Amino acid sequence: MKISIIVAKAKNNVIGKNNQLIWRLSSDLKLFKQITSGHHIIMGRKTYESVGKPLPNRTSIVITRNPDFQLPEGHKVCHSLQEAIQLCIGKHLDQVYIIGGAEIYKQALPICDELLVTEVEARPEGDVFFPEINPKQWKKTAAESFKKDDKNEYNFEFVTYKKVNP
Ligand SMILES: NC(=O)c1ccc[n+]([C@@H]2O[C@H](COP(=O)([O-])OP(=O)(O)OC[C@H]3O[C@@H](n4cnc5c(N)ncnc54)[C@H](OP(=O)(O)O)[C@@H]3O)[C@@H](O)[C@H]2O)c1
Repeated sequence: MKISIIVAKAKNNVIGKNNQLIWRLSSDLKLFKQITSGHHIIMGRKTYESVGKPLPNRTSIVITRNPDFQLPEGHKVCHSLQEAIQLCIGKHLDQVYIIGGAEIYKQALPICDELLVTEVEARPEGDVFFPEINPKQWKKTAAESFKKDDKNEYNFEFVTYKKVNP
């Protein structure tokens, strides 16, 4: 099973502030929807709460230490990243996407195969960060540029990294 991280991060690695996203990038949201639709997505409880409900056409797996946490039917609560990954392996999935936030990305980075990174040309203030991508461990294999316009607040690049010597 391929494990991919999907993230939008600024030049200074900021990914959010006050449990919110910090930019309006309509083309990036479209990419996110296209890529993750039909798949299982793993996220931390805070990211789930910042969205407020399961994203349509995807199966949400939410990680929390709270034994009483509940999700709508068809979605799943797990109590560790390992439990979430085991659940997906048990379902014989080919692919799972880790969609954040910072705590979950940090734990997932050592075990994932691919990074799909929206590199936003901005240096905003924030309170959550993506870990530094080590070029010895991650090789850039594709990149597509998007220009700032009335629906996209900043220029950004959508970059694929594959793990070196997985
Ligand atoms: N730019 C992007 O691509 C992107 C993507 C996603 C999120 N974000 C941003 O990231 C921020 C949220 O990130 P965050 O780091 O604060 O929170 P998070 O990673 O979304 O969630 C953290 C929560 O996950 C649970 N958790 C983490 N590790 C666990 C473990 N090992 N076992 C059991 N439960 C565990 C805990 O939930 P409990 O406290 O319930 O136990 C913890 O409080 C927001 O600002 C959001 O907008 C940005």
